[in-house]
Amino acid sequence: MSHSIQWRSLWRLPLLALVLPALVLVVGLALAQGAQAQSDPQGEAATAVPALDADTWRQVRSGEVDANYRDSRFDSTYNLVNASGETWRQWRNRWVSPYGLIVIGGMLAMIVLFYLIAGRKKLDEPRTGRKLLRWSAVSRSLHWSVATLFILLALSGLTLLYGKHVFYPLFGAGAWGAMVSASKLVHNYLGPFFGILLLILLAKLLVHNLPKKHDIDWFRKGGGLVGKEHPDAGFANAGEKAWYWLLATAGVVVIISGLVLDFPNYGQARDTMQWANLVHGIGALGLTAVALGHIYIGTLGTEGSLEGMTTGYVDETWAKEHHNLWYEEVKESAVPEEQLATGSKEATGGSSPQSST
Ligand code: HEM
Repeated sequence: MSHSIQWRSLWRLPLLALVLPALVLVVGLALAQGAQAQSDPQGEAATAVPALDADTWRQVRSGEVDANYRDSRFDSTYNLVNASGETWRQWRNRWVSPYGLIVIGGMLAMIVLFYLIAGRKKLDEPRTGRKLLRWSAVSRSLHWSVATLFILLALSGLTLLYGKHVFYPLFGAGAWGAMVSASKLVHNYLGPFFGILLLILLAKLLVHNLPKKHDIDWFRKGGGLVGKEHPDAGFANAGEKAWYWLLATAGVVVIISGLVLDFPNYGQARDTMQWANLVHGIGALGLTAVALGHIYIGTLGTEGSLEGMTTGYVDETWAKEHHNLWYEEVKESAVPEEQLATGSKEATGGSSPQSST
């Protein structure tokens, strides 16, 4: 029996080894094509601003203002201002930046407050020492790749949006210049990889995240925070499903708007890119705030969760308390932890494809 299960899980390794280089190749080719398109100044000029013809200049000289241009000569600066660009700038600087900070800062404050009041959610019963396979090696690799890329994108994105106010006064123009160009490169090149890996992760987890009737009850009981009772949950509880569907909707919008910004020379005009920038910023800042909650729950917040995503296995007690319906399905496949420690973990029967993901 042990051998048949070992063979069954072996196919996953070469699959991963093939899929990742293929992804690198596809994204590399797309980036190279995008870079080539960007090196065409004619094409860029055609999409950057509305046509500057004789009529436009006549209109500018007359001091007349229209939807495309504003002339700021009355402020004695004598600048010709692109009106829609100015509107975008105002939206970004007056709304997206400050409210993004409020949402992320508010989430951090709520997490600290919650931890101070409620503390860590410990297991009610002692551990049994018997383990259930929850996350396969492929799922764990996908999860940690997506998480690492997300964190790098969040840090570089936050530097692009807020860094000027922090690093410029701290380190001066030279260091800030290097930081902002490094952030831009990291953000532009890692974004597409994040997009592809997130879509694969979402496809792999879909089956566990379909809404069920008991999810409503889970929300009504605040995921077990209201009262002592643990609400019913299958492989994924309703809170995890909410995180999943947020990634599948807002996450996908952030990816698509990011691609619109990443490859500017596929015909999209400046107005489209300004919209993409606002949508991308709002979506990404919102996701970053919720990701902080996810990271808290997955680490400090809940005893026993992180070990599932690092080792692949969870204790029976954790499964029973947090995912009782899933536990009922897989309880027969529990293995003593000593057996896992001796390295014969695959020889357990716990790696049935239906029971873990
Ligand atoms: C350091 C950062 C992170 C930590 C410590 C962490 C931790 C975890 C843990 C422990 C689980 C398993 C929960 C369970 O077994 O029920 C999990 C699941 C998951 N994580 Fe993370 N995570 C991190 C970042 C992220 C990020 C950035 C994303 C996406 C952008 C993400 C997406 C997911 C998804 C989709 C699931 C599955 C939930 C489901 O089944 O619906 N994680 N994470």
